[in-house]
Amino acid sequence: MKQVYLGNSMEKVSEFCLGCMLLGTSVDKNVSFQILDHFLDLGGNFLDTANCYAWWVGTGEYIGDESENILGQYIKERGNRDKIFLATKVGARLKDPYTIRDANGATEWDRVTKEYEGLSAATIRREVEHSLRRLKTDYIDLYYTHVFDNNIPQEETLDTLNSLIKEGKVRYIGASNISTNQLMEAKNICDIKHLTPYLVLQQEFSYLHPNKDADQGITRHADEEMFDFVEKNGMAFLAYSPLLKGIYGDYERKNNYYNWSHFSSEESFRKLKLVDDLAADLGITARQLVLAWMLKLKPAIIPILGFSRMDQYLENISASDIKLTEEHMALLGR
Ligand SMILES: NC(=O)c1ccc[n+]([C@@H]2O[C@H](COP(=O)([O-])OP(=O)(O)OC[C@H]3O[C@@H](n4cnc5c(N)ncnc54)[C@H](OP(=O)(O)O)[C@@H]3O)[C@@H](O)[C@H]2O)c1
Repeated sequence: MKQVYLGNSMEKVSEFCLGCMLLGTSVDKNVSFQILDHFLDLGGNFLDTANCYAWWVGTGEYIGDESENILGQYIKERGNRDKIFLATKVGARLKDPYTIRDANGATEWDRVTKEYEGLSAATIRREVEHSLRRLKTDYIDLYYTHVFDNNIPQEETLDTLNSLIKEGKVRYIGASNISTNQLMEAKNICDIKHLTPYLVLQQEFSYLHPNKDADQGITRHADEEMFDFVEKNGMAFLAYSPLLKGIYGDYERKNNYYNWSHFSSEESFRKLKLVDDLAADLGITARQLVLAWMLKLKPAIIPILGFSRMDQYLENISASDIKLTEEHMALLGR
């Protein structure tokens, strides 16, 4: 797999980041290890997790430690910490995952964002230690703020993250689920206080774009203004949910996708058909085409692969072998 520079740093990472969100829950230990081995054998090194993955799977048996725990076990058993560029996140862990479900074990989703632990200095200090323990390592390569916290001044968060860099617990910092204005404010604070700014932005991004009036909650699907900011400031961009839960080429999945109303439009239907037709011509799947398209966009995007099964992972990862021409890119647009 190709390696790319992480923004304007001298750090090289794989062109795909492996989304480890469901490792240790939907994906059992055995398959998780097989996927991690396969990804590393192909030259992949970039792993993405968070301190809350994936508490929502099942009916109350998980609390959000599971993905970091399985990665920690993997790194320890394989002794390969130096082969991995490890990213995790803080801020969206639930204060108490045991009280977020009703009597039947169903998540009360309307309460979730109010239950986030947030980005105070005390939370970050406590949670980085928990993440390091679960990951069985003494440093995190990339530490993200998971969701913007309206209740804590950005200065407090950035000061704390910078202390972690100085202490060697964290190498680079990133932000996720944040607006362009909030990113600009963060950059200004860092300029004034001579702090290390965010190197990485991780946002939802796919081939379809949400309708202008869609209420996406905490999510800020990346737009051109955001990409401009990333490029001008030498940041790297990582796309989460690049396949919008696998809807490309699969109309049943689209119909069952909980956020489909955000994307439903004539333009989206046009793009879905375009992807289906071109994928059929090229003898690949619509999902592979979307991932191959994303790999070729400028400025560069690192897609984070999502999957809950081995066969999905294998289909998606093989998109790195697909070479699209400039004609294909022009036809698809963005
Ligand atoms: N920063 C954030 O807030 C944030 C949010 C979300 C994710 N992430 C990161 O981004 C990674 C990827 O996100 P995501 O899981 O939402 O990605 P995604 O691209 O939306 O794909 C996820 C789901 O799509 C379906 N899928 C994927 N490949 C498929 C295939 N080849 N065939 C059929 N179905 C397929 C699967 O659904 P089923 O399981 O239903 O089969 C899979 O679980 C995560 O692992 C996590 O590391 C970050």
